[in-house]
Amino acid sequence: MRSLATSWSLLPVSLLASITQAAHFEVAVGKGGQLRFDPETLDATVGDTVTYRFFAKKHSVVQSSFTQPCQPLTGGFFSGFTPSNSSDTPAPTTWTITINDTKPIWAYCSQTVGNHCQSGMVHAINAPKSGNTIDAYRELAAQTPNSTSPADLLPVGGVRKLHVDVGLDGLTFTPSNITELPRTVVEFSFNPKNHSVVQSNFANPCQPLEGGGFSSGFIPTAVSPSGALFDIVIPDTKPIWFYCAQTAGTHCQKGMVGSINAPTNGTNTFEAFVALAAKAPPSTIPPKAPLVGTVTVNGTIINSFNGAVLNADAPINSTVPPPGTDVPPAWSGMAGGGQPSQYNWAPDISPAAVSFLQLLQFLDDILLEVLFQGYNKLHAGAWAAAYPKSIVDTIGSMSAQALVHRATVTDCLAHYKKPLQGTCSYVLQTDNVDAFLQASLTLLLLEIGVLTDVSAGIAAADPWLVPVLITEVGAKSRMTAVVNMMQNHLAAAAPREVMIPAPLAWSYATRHFIQSCPDTIQGMPERTWPALTVTGKQEAPGGGRTTALTLKWDTMASSPGADSFVAWIGPWGDLEFTPLGADGTATVPGSLYGHVWIVVVSKSGVKLQDLPSVTIAGPEMVWVSQP
Ligand SMILES: *[C@@H]1O[C@H](CO)[C@@H](O)[C@H](O)[C@H]1NC(C)=O
Ligand SMILES: *[C@@H]1O[C@H](CO)[C@@H](O)[C@H](O)[C@H]1NC(C)=O
Ligand SMILES: *[C@@H]1O[C@H](CO)[C@@H](O)[C@H](O)[C@H]1NC(C)=O
Ligand SMILES: *[C@@H]1O[C@H](CO)[C@@H](O)[C@H](O)[C@H]1NC(C)=O
Ligand SMILES: *[C@@H]1O[C@H](CO)[C@@H](O)[C@H](O)[C@H]1NC(C)=O
Ligand SMILES: *[C@@H]1O[C@H](CO)[C@@H](O)[C@H](O)[C@H]1NC(C)=O
Ligand SMILES: *[C@@H]1O[C@H](CO)[C@@H](O)[C@H](O)[C@H]1NC(C)=O
Ligand SMILES: *[C@@H]1O[C@H](CO)[C@@H](O)[C@H](O)[C@H]1NC(C)=O
Repeated sequence: MRSLATSWSLLPVSLLASITQAAHFEVAVGKGGQLRFDPETLDATVGDTVTYRFFAKKHSVVQSSFTQPCQPLTGGFFSGFTPSNSSDTPAPTTWTITINDTKPIWAYCSQTVGNHCQSGMVHAINAPKSGNTIDAYRELAAQTPNSTSPADLLPVGGVRKLHVDVGLDGLTFTPSNITELPRTVVEFSFNPKNHSVVQSNFANPCQPLEGGGFSSGFIPTAVSPSGALFDIVIPDTKPIWFYCAQTAGTHCQKGMVGSINAPTNGTNTFEAFVALAAKAPPSTIPPKAPLVGTVTVNGTIINSFNGAVLNADAPINSTVPPPGTDVPPAWSGMAGGGQPSQYNWAPDISPAAVSFLQLLQFLDDILLEVLFQGYNKLHAGAWAAAYPKSIVDTIGSMSAQALVHRATVTDCLAHYKKPLQGTCSYVLQTDNVDAFLQASLTLLLLEIGVLTDVSAGIAAADPWLVPVLITEVGAKSRMTAVVNMMQNHLAAAAPREVMIPAPLAWSYATRHFIQSCPDTIQGMPERTWPALTVTGKQEAPGGGRTTALTLKWDTMASSPGADSFVAWIGPWGDLEFTPLGADGTATVPGSLYGHVWIVVVSKSGVKLQDLPSVTIAGPEMVWVSQP
């Protein structure tokens, strides 16, 4: 049975600590054909909720006073009558009340056919254990000559809710031909495929009702039930007509339509509506959603989504799952699949590969934190209007893929019983979209740089790791392209895949993103190199190309001396050195464009892999030419 509890995981832990979660009770009404409430009594406190589910016959729940058992209490609650055709399967309509105080609540079933109240179909919440007990109430009820319901027979004082499954058994609403009381909440629950619930009039079955009908929008999902709900309230007794507007597969025309309180005779019956829909022109949907009703996904209200499509499976405001845990299904769905099912692990792993995997996990952890923060803000937070939904969805799937990449790494470490890196505390610059994009791009380029650097070494000692890593380079390169596209209002050159020696990448990430980490990574230096700051830039006439940079770093001597050089790391394995002048200025080699990593070194002419052994400061990423 579905849980009605709200999603507490969305609340901060500090807030959770101060909340005592409200309890939820379920009461079966007439189960097994018996004239009783089960449980007959219960003890509840303020804020608790009680849901009544109806079996067999046609029952109700009505509040009375203790002294007048089968008569409605003025201002009390009434569920409305709820027919059910089964004594062991509850009707799709439920009744839920919220407990406002701990005074006794007395209730009965007001069905007069069979004298339910007099026959003992009574119920109490917080009944005294002596004096006015449930037994005393039942005895009083038995002596009451008649029982009555509120005059208008309409639900009051609680929530009457009809559950309708959307697309559970093919192209249908279940139930579809609905008879319900005004004030009832109709809760449409979305199942797989890509459905919608849109109000029409009788005459135009597959077109939105003009002048304010409801629309859920399209809710694609692969999960059943998805957790996505669309709630509307029945305003009056007039007929309501609705349809699914999905054109791929002509859902409306194929009979995916429904009615609420359709006439049972004459020309405008449900059957007639189905027949009209079968011949209707292609369906349409209002451009915006949701309209009139409320969409929630697992308890979170979605006020609006871009256009009329909501991906119900997109996790909302999630935090990064801890390393070593399974990728949650919603995320692996977004990533287009989980980690490899077959790694072809070798019997052993080299120490260099362990060190490299730990470094990758460390970088993935930072990247995930940045991407999740950004995605939450773009998807449902402060930047929700900054980009079209398709772009936001792409960031979502990038986040999901990064999660799968990290799972790949932690799977490998765990397989060889090597320690995972504990979660670090971060200093992240994600307070505006541009900073978020720059941090994402830098981290992606660092990872690509490291993957490129170590792939040659890995190929010799741990060949099974190569396919895993090559796939990752491809995915991460695509991600840089997306981030770069999102930066297009900035003067940003296309990202280039530049190799970066692993220790330098570790140093850069630690300096720029880390406050502290619980663990060290095998093979990384004991401390980071000083960060490089660009204090001056010379540009070629006409701008666009940087010809020289002036650099500064923490431990810089007043004059760096003749034996300092800048190493320029460009794409295609390009590595060039230019001398660093006494004032800290170095000429940019003429062959370099776009993004370049620079390192200050004590020796020129060394190989890329040997740079860490001669590094004085850096690395830093610089632009040497604008697009
Ligand atoms: C009883 O009601 C359920 C849902 O309320 C419906 O699925 C089922 O077809 C009904 N059975 C009969 C025999 O009417
Ligand atoms: C039902 O009985 C109550 C007294 O128990 C009486 O006041 C009321 O008028 C009766 N109602 C009907 C509809 O007979
Ligand atoms: C609790 O208070 C709400 C709001 O006033 C009211 O609608 C509801 O009927 C009350 N619940 C009960 C069980 O009386
Ligand atoms: C859902 O259907 C709508 C309308 O046909 C379409 O625009 C949207 O792309 C679909 N979404 C998915 C994930 O299939
Ligand atoms: C026709 O429908 C109306 C309202 O829907 C109802 O009041 C009436 O009893 C129905 N007549 C027959 C013969 O079913
Ligand atoms: C729709 O519901 C009405 C009222 O319950 C019933 O008379 C009618 O036969 C139903 N039509 C279909 C097609 O189920
Ligand atoms: C909502 O909850 C269901 C059931 O627990 C789960 O399968 C689904 O993935 C959740 N949806 C989201 C977006 O978290
Ligand atoms: C997500 O979190 C942001 C920031 O905390 C908040 O403004 C937003 O309303 C949340 N969105 C949802 C759908 O919970």
